[in-house]
Amino acid sequence: MTFNSMPKVELHLHLEGAAPPAFIAGLAREKSIDISEIFDENGGYAYRDFEHFLRVYEAACTTLTGPEEFYRLTKAVLEESASHGVVYSETFLSPDFCGGGDLSAWRDYLAAMEMAADEAERDMGITLRGIITCIRHFGPEQAKTAAKCAAETKGRFITGFGMAGAEMVGRPGDYAYSFDMAREAGLQLTCHAGEWGGPDMVADTIRDLRVERIGHGINAIKDPALVDQMAQTGVVLEVCPGSNVFLKASGGWADHPIKPLRDAGVKVTVSTDDPPFFHTTMTDEFVNLAKTFGWDDSDLRALNETALAAAFCDEDTRAKIAKKLEAT
Ligand code: ADE
Ligand code: ZN
Repeated sequence: MTFNSMPKVELHLHLEGAAPPAFIAGLAREKSIDISEIFDENGGYAYRDFEHFLRVYEAACTTLTGPEEFYRLTKAVLEESASHGVVYSETFLSPDFCGGGDLSAWRDYLAAMEMAADEAERDMGITLRGIITCIRHFGPEQAKTAAKCAAETKGRFITGFGMAGAEMVGRPGDYAYSFDMAREAGLQLTCHAGEWGGPDMVADTIRDLRVERIGHGINAIKDPALVDQMAQTGVVLEVCPGSNVFLKASGGWADHPIKPLRDAGVKVTVSTDDPPFFHTTMTDEFVNLAKTFGWDDSDLRALNETALAAAFCDEDTRAKIAKKLEAT
């Protein structure tokens, strides 16, 4: 079995952030939207740092003008993921980029994405679930709008609620109302924390938003007591090493916190975050983990098993995916 063909479970993928730059450039041409400044001379995304990345990301989203564009995007992203052996994926979806938070518009966008996901499952054997995601720097009021969309459209496809965006804006507790609303609707919860913020941000997110998973969480490593607590309680980290290295949220691969976190008993999983932005794929992530830390087949399988156990899906789906992992 090659690194590429090994089946994989990915829990942390931003749908818009997974858009190939050529796909976005093509839409921009179709719609005569001038966003040439977001591309470099090779046609890749061009940005200087994390703040600028968020602005380029939002500029790319201006080409995704309706449900049809999100249908095409979902298809393109799933095709790419499936080509790297991904059999189960969870993607962050933002009502803010799909009709600006209007519930009726959101339902139309969602129907298009769900149709694409069903077709991809039938044709490519990849299963997708959606985590509705508020954007932190859009503020707590806008987050409530996203949470309402989440609560109203929870179902087989929409299974989670989360938060992305600029981590240093406000404190986690500012968003507790939205996370409470999502939890009460029966959604499972995750939140970006400890990518840029310190261990205090991870601790406050766990305490105030009562999430079961954390996006990134790597800076927890700076507080051994917090690491112990996380190992005890079983909170799951959606670690994205390639993203962290590319954005310089951590040092290089050799001193990435995924290894000491795992060694301390914290449940870690591996994802790509926004693969074309960070020039990574799930195959690359597995290859780099094997190369850097000597992780073998059984280590990589354990990552998949931890991810599947923490997946926001129903038990029938989990059992179906487990069979795919076991078959290899
Ligand atoms: N949105 C897309 N990618 C993100 C990241 N790595 N951190 C926070 N928000 C994001
Ligand atoms: Zn992310």
